[in-house]
Amino acid sequence: MTRAHAPGKAILFGEHAVVYGRPAIAVPVHQIRATADVSDLPEAPAGAVFLESEATGTRAWLNDLPEDDPLRRITQSTLDRLPAASRHTLSIHITSTIPIASGLGSGAAVSVAIARAVSQHLGQPLTIEAVSALAFDVERLHHGTPSGIDNTVISYETPVYFVRGQPIERIKVGAIFDLLIGDTGVPAPTVEAVASVRRRWEAERETMETLFDSVGDIVRRARTAIESGHVAALGPLMNENQSLLAEMGVSSPELDRLIDAALGAGAFGAKLSGGGMGGNMIAVVTPDRNRAITAALLQAGATRAFATQVGT
Ligand code: PMV
Repeated sequence: MTRAHAPGKAILFGEHAVVYGRPAIAVPVHQIRATADVSDLPEAPAGAVFLESEATGTRAWLNDLPEDDPLRRITQSTLDRLPAASRHTLSIHITSTIPIASGLGSGAAVSVAIARAVSQHLGQPLTIEAVSALAFDVERLHHGTPSGIDNTVISYETPVYFVRGQPIERIKVGAIFDLLIGDTGVPAPTVEAVASVRRRWEAERETMETLFDSVGDIVRRARTAIESGHVAALGPLMNENQSLLAEMGVSSPELDRLIDAALGAGAFGAKLSGGGMGGNMIAVVTPDRNRAITAALLQAGATRAFATQVGT
């Protein structure tokens, strides 16, 4: 059997504006991950592939799944890249601790784990770049018009400064810092949030472009703060980014409640992370406030709250 993992991710700054060409910053989150186990199926005919995923309730032969099923798409496109793959039979079992539709990259992580495990199992491991490109293709099914940030940060497993269509830039973290991630428990498919921003952009182009420009400025300042280890500066930048996201219409009462609770309990700053309209929020915190802020998040209705460190 071959096992491969892929981490979750959090967008620190710049979601949505990144779809419109502005930069964004994202980090891998190793506390949550998707896992793919691949083994041979000795009794099956050559080329047969069986897929199982608890999270999506899938238990089916690859060819019986709809053609636009994301699990089918990533498995098929990975096999298509590997010479002589059709001589093999495979059983693929997927598990994930990343909540679905919550802004933490579950779709991209499942794709990356499958591409890694299948290619390794067949003795032809794909490069990071190839895995990321395959996962990007599947992101189109999840997102419609993905920027590519999710598959990039999850494949490279490093903090990234990302601009759509440009080569990846890794960020050097000047001083390790602590993040808390709080889940509203409200599932929010990214495709809907992205479509709602698109509708606003079509109706009020100038206003939205101005908001995106302001986000771009924040992201550039945040990069400098992260690289120079100026952690306290990240708080106000997060709060500013959150105000702009709220103006874009992608915050929600549940997100606002968790963000207010984190700030009230002493976080440097807090914002939604990912598509928004539900899903998760993040807060930059000092280790000594970690517990109090976690308690405040749970008290304010978070279904889960956990800590991660950036730069380790
Ligand atoms: O909701 P997530 O974690 O998939 O993040 C989406 C980020 C967006 O900027 C809203 C969309 C994108 O493709 O970049």
